[in-house]
Amino acid sequence: MKALVLSGGAGTRMRPLTHTTAKQLVPVANKPVLFYGLEAIAQAGITDVGIIVGETAAEIEEAVGDGSKFGLDVTYIPQEAPLGLAHAVLISRKFLGDEDFVMYLGDNFIVGGITELVDHFLSDRPDAQILLTHVPNPTVFGVAELDDAGNVARVEEKSPHPRSDLAIVGVYLFSPAVHEAVRAIEPSRRGELEITHAIQWLIDERRDVRSTTISGYWKDTGNVVDMLEVNRSVLETLEPRIEGEVDEESQIIGRVWIEEGASVRGSRVVGPAVIGRGTVISDSYIGAYTSVSEDCRVENSEIEFSIVLRDSSIKGVRRVEASLIGRNVTVTPAPAVPHAHRLLLGDHSEVQISS
Ligand code: G1P
Repeated sequence: MKALVLSGGAGTRMRPLTHTTAKQLVPVANKPVLFYGLEAIAQAGITDVGIIVGETAAEIEEAVGDGSKFGLDVTYIPQEAPLGLAHAVLISRKFLGDEDFVMYLGDNFIVGGITELVDHFLSDRPDAQILLTHVPNPTVFGVAELDDAGNVARVEEKSPHPRSDLAIVGVYLFSPAVHEAVRAIEPSRRGELEITHAIQWLIDERRDVRSTTISGYWKDTGNVVDMLEVNRSVLETLEPRIEGEVDEESQIIGRVWIEEGASVRGSRVVGPAVIGRGTVISDSYIGAYTSVSEDCRVENSEIEFSIVLRDSSIKGVRRVEASLIGRNVTVTPAPAVPHAHRLLLGDHSEVQISS
């Protein structure tokens, strides 16, 4: 069994963060989303992994390397343009050979890994196995319709009138039967070869397509609200560790990870929270569900339920909440007079001001 990990997308839904970062590298609890997927693949006993890369190839390759730190053997497969998930399968034919494989979208996050799914697939050996989850917004997903017996009767891609609320999760298990399917389909209205259409082709050909509905937690990390939610859920499982320095004036409460090389002075950190390497927190309050990445400065400030990416500084600000702060960002208070906000916001920024 091999794995095909898709890490090519440009991430327009996560602008402005993804102007400078591949969406698969946006951190959850200070670890790139993509790494959780790679760890789940390794845990399932798979070592041979193809990673589809696009315009952010250099960044992905720098972060993942040859895969050895995950116990994986990684082959990079360049996709010249984002031409669809089925196109990714098409161009990976040589790498995949005639083996079964799991296709894993690098921006998806699944709690609990994929080991059980892979084991079931290998013992039952259907032609394809998809994962489903109930969502409140099925129009932005591929959606499946099940028949009375619970078999997959039909799948549709981002329909304005979805036939169910069962979204297709971005982890698929395939036998080599999928190769015929991806060759048979035509590009969709958005100009992409859709994996959903390849799955429908298998269903039309009366091949064995099964589904598992995940009742546990699952999120597509394609937008900011989802990012905060995924971050929150991962922080809740954090193992508390103080590897950095914490002075006597500071208080660390609950599930907190102070990474090596981080420093906390005269501050209160209430978990679940993580403070990254090289980050200095002084005279501040860091509240629950907060991840501060590496090399940040938080001084004389309060921050809660937020993600701060690396090399940013927050000084003299109360209080930052439910926020996603990018890399190399500076947040400071304005002078007392005039009572005006001064902003320097990049394209596609969003800001809420309490005044
Ligand atoms: C893709 C698939 C869609 C699936 C989703 C899960 O959509 O086409 O069927 O529900 O991934 O993340 P994308 O959001 O990549 O356009």
